[in-house]
Amino acid sequence: MLAERTKRIGVSPTMKVAAEAMRLKAQGVDIVDLGAGEPDFPTPPHVSAAAHAAIDANFTKYTTNSGTDEMKRAVCARYKADYGVEYTPAETIISAGGKQALYNAALCLFGAGDEVITHMPGWPTLVEQIKLADATPVIVRTRAEDNFRLHAETILAALAPRTRGIVINSPGNPTGALISEDDLTRVADEAARRDIWILVDLCYERLIYEPTPHNLPGILVARMRDRTVLCGSSSKAYAMTGWRCGWALGPAALISACNALQSHSTSNVCSITQKAAVAALTGPQDCVTAMLDEYRNRRDQVCEWLAAEPRLRVGKPEGAFYLFIDVSDFLSPDGLRTTSDLAQALLDEARVAITPGEAFDAPGFLRLSYATSLAELQRGTDRIIAFVRALDVQAGAAAGA
Ligand SMILES: Cc1ncc(COP(=O)(O)O)c(C=O)c1O
Repeated sequence: MLAERTKRIGVSPTMKVAAEAMRLKAQGVDIVDLGAGEPDFPTPPHVSAAAHAAIDANFTKYTTNSGTDEMKRAVCARYKADYGVEYTPAETIISAGGKQALYNAALCLFGAGDEVITHMPGWPTLVEQIKLADATPVIVRTRAEDNFRLHAETILAALAPRTRGIVINSPGNPTGALISEDDLTRVADEAARRDIWILVDLCYERLIYEPTPHNLPGILVARMRDRTVLCGSSSKAYAMTGWRCGWALGPAALISACNALQSHSTSNVCSITQKAAVAALTGPQDCVTAMLDEYRNRRDQVCEWLAAEPRLRVGKPEGAFYLFIDVSDFLSPDGLRTTSDLAQALLDEARVAITPGEAFDAPGFLRLSYATSLAELQRGTDRIIAFVRALDVQAGAAAGA
C-alpha cells in the first residue's frame, strides 16, 4: 500500500519516548521527564523580542527560499568569528532546523550504490537520512571504555571504493563525545585524497564544557573546502528548538541543489523565526555561556548522585546535555531483557521518562537528559536508584523462592 522507502524507516525512537511522557503528563501523572532532547531554558528575551518586532513590522511573508540575506550573513559572521572560516551567502542555506539542513545535503549528495560512513552509538536520524537517500550506511562503533571517542583509525578502516561520504556528529548525541582535531585532520587528509565528502553535524557545537580545541570547520576548510558541509542549528545553543532554524554551509553548487530541493518541499524557514535567529547569532552571546554553566553544574551533580549506585556506570560527557549510562548489570534473560524493557518499567513503575539505548543502536545503555532543573534531576535519580535496587530485592526473593 505504501511506497517502498517507507519500509526502510521508522518513527524517530527518541520522539516516541517524548510523546509517551507528554501523554502521561497531560493526564496529570507525576512524571519526571529525563527524556528531553531540548533545552529547558526559555528562549533568550532579546531573541523573542526580535520575533515580536518582526510580527509588528509585518515581516510575515515568504522570504527568499534559501533564507534572507541578513540571516545568511549572520551565520557566515558567526562561523568567521568562532572558527575563522570564510563563507558567503551563496554558500549558505537556511533550513527548518539542523535536521532539514542535513537531510537536504544527504539527498543532494548520496544515492544508490554509495556507501556513507557514520558512527554509533549516535543520533538515529543520520542513518535514516542516508537510507532515505537510497545509499547504504556503514556504521563504525565507538566504545564506552574510552568515553565514546571517535578515532580516525576506525573511520579509515571502513573506507571502501564506494565510500561517498562520512557523516560526523561532534559533540555527539547521545554520548557527548567529541572527535579530536587530530583525528579529524587524519580523516580529512584521506578523504581529500579520495574525493570523499565530509558532513559535520555541529548541532551541539556551542555546548562544550572544557576549553577543548574543536575547530572542525577550520580543519576541513583548510584541507577540503570543496567536499565539506557544515550543518548547524539555533535549536540547542539558543534554546530555540520549536522555532525550527538551522543551516548548511558548503560549496555553492551543493547549496544551489539544496535550495532547489527545499523549494519543492518546505520553501523558506518561517520569516519571524529568521529574524529571531539573526538576533540570536549576532546579539550578546553571554546567554549561551550562562546556559552552558548551568548544564555543567547539573552534569557534575547528577554524576555525583548516580555514583551512589556503582552499577549505574557513566563517564562525564565533554559536550551536549546527556549522560549515557551503562545499565547492563540490571538486564537479564529472565527479568528486564533490554533497555527498552527497563525504560518502559521505569516509566510505568517509577514514573521516570528516559530514553533506551536501543534508540541509539546501543543496547545496555540509557540516555538521561539533564536539560531539566536540578530539583527534577534529583527526584529522577532518586527514583531510578530506588527502582534498580528494588530489582535486586525482587531477584533475591525469586532466587530464594
Ligand atoms: C545530533 C543532532 N543533530 C541534529 C539535531 C537537529 O536538531 P534541529 O533540527 O532542532 O536543529 C538534533 C536534534 O535532536 C541532534 O540531536
